[in-house]
This record gives sequence, structure tokens and C-alpha cells, in this order.
Amino acid sequence: MPPTIDLDHIRHLYRTHRDDLAHVRDQMRHHHTTNPHLRPTTNDIETEITYLLLRAHTPQHTVQIGTGHGWTTTWILSALRDNGTGHLHSFDTHDHTPHHVPTHLTHHRWTFTHGDIRTTTAHLPPHTDHLLIDAAHNGHFARWYLRHLLPTLPAHTPVTIHNVFRHRATPPFTEGALVMTWLTTNTTNFFTASAARAPHTHHALRQLKQELDLATPLHPGHHNPAIYFRLPTHTRPALTV
Ligand SMILES: C[S@@+](CC[C@H](N)C(=O)[O-])C[C@H]1O[C@@H](n2cnc3c(N)ncnc32)[C@H](O)[C@@H]1O
Repeated sequence: MPPTIDLDHIRHLYRTHRDDLAHVRDQMRHHHTTNPHLRPTTNDIETEITYLLLRAHTPQHTVQIGTGHGWTTTWILSALRDNGTGHLHSFDTHDHTPHHVPTHLTHHRWTFTHGDIRTTTAHLPPHTDHLLIDAAHNGHFARWYLRHLLPTLPAHTPVTIHNVFRHRATPPFTEGALVMTWLTTNTTNFFTASAARAPHTHHALRQLKQELDLATPLHPGHHNPAIYFRLPTHTRPALTV
């Protein structure tokens, strides 16, 4: 069985990959100063967890839905570079991301598809090993991926969904509420470092970052609302989704 994504696992990964993480944080700071469009858009702990999970799981095919100006894309590509293996398949309805991601990271490692993921699924790789979703944050889009994308992926695939726990609870009919219903129906636990939802976890990781000298902020925010989980062995549709 692959390791459960929980606080112990994330702490272990911070310690294991501390030096590489410090190096990538310096590079990201530098990318930002040389390309102001490539600015921190996701909070530090959540992007670092993305990097660490990719280092731990060494996926061959990572799928990213929603790239913005490429901050998270650059983090993901840095993890694949440090792994020495893996390919990223990104999708966005806008086409500006390729102008901002450092080209030395993209060679042979990145395929960008310009278009709505709902009409470009033919461009998904034959096998997805890791999935990140940070696209339209509304119930309509969440229904689509919960019904049509997640059930097509292999059991235990690690999944990250952004922007779920900006607050302690998820308001009804939002993306976060639908995802929570789906996870409950599928008896699937999730991990979050959200300051609002999981303050003790959030505090523990900030303390660890202090201890490891990784605390100087790239992004000024501390919400970290993303959630992380592994797909269950069999997915069941949630009746309300
Ligand atoms: C919040 S931004 C992503 C930010 C990105 N994670 C970063 O690090 O900067 C959301 C992105 O999702 C894209 N998007 C929204 N709906 C989409 C869809 N149906 N298919 C593909 N991309 C979509 C938007 O164009 C936008 O660039």
C-alpha cells in the first residue's frame, strides 16, 4: 500500500527533502524577480507539499488542470527535474502560461493543452499517476470532475484540489462542499494544512519550517486551503453530486 498522506508523512518529507526544497524556494524567488508575471499565487505550505509529494511518489504522468501564470506549474516541473523523471500534462482555457514558465524546466517534460479540460480530455495521458486541480472554483465544474474524471483514474492516485478550506467549513453547493460529500460517500480521508480547518496541523508545519530554516515567505498569505487525498479502490457516485 502507498503511504497515507497525513501530518507524519508530510513532516518526514520536509526533513528528507529539506535541502532540495530550500534550493527550489531560492529559484522560485529568483524566477519571480526576473519575471513579475510568475508571482506566488498559492500559499507556501501548499505548494511545498505539492513539491514534496511529487518527490516522494515519482509519478511518470502528472496532470494539472488550471495553470494561471505558471507558479504551481514551475514548482511541479522543478520536482520532476529533481526526480530526474516524469512528464507534466497541463490544461488551461488561457494560453499565457507557456510565456512565463522557465524554458530550462520544460524541455521533454511538459505538454501544455490550451482549452477547456471538459472538451480536451483526448489530450490526457493514457495513465495519470498524480492529479492537481486548481481551475474554476464552482459547483458546476466540480460536478464534472467528480462524475467524469476522478472515476476514470487508477485507485490510490494522489489528488490535490485547491481552494477548498479558505474557511473552516465549505458553504453549501460550492466546489468544496461537493468534494467533501464525494469523499464522505467514498469513505476517503483527506489531508489539509489549512489554517482555518486544521489549525494544529498548520501550526505544526510552520514550526517545522522555522526549525528547518524554510520559513521566509514567498507568498504573504497563510490560508493554505488545498486538500490532498488518494483515490479509493472503487469510486461511488455521491447522490447529491
Ligand atoms: C486559480 S487559476 C490557477 C492558478 C495556478 N495554480 C497558479 O499556480 O498560478 C485557475 C485557472 O484555471 C483555468 N480554468 C478555469 N476553468 C478551466 C477549465 N474548465 N479547463 C481548463 N482550465 C480552466 C483558468 O483559466 C485559470 O488560469
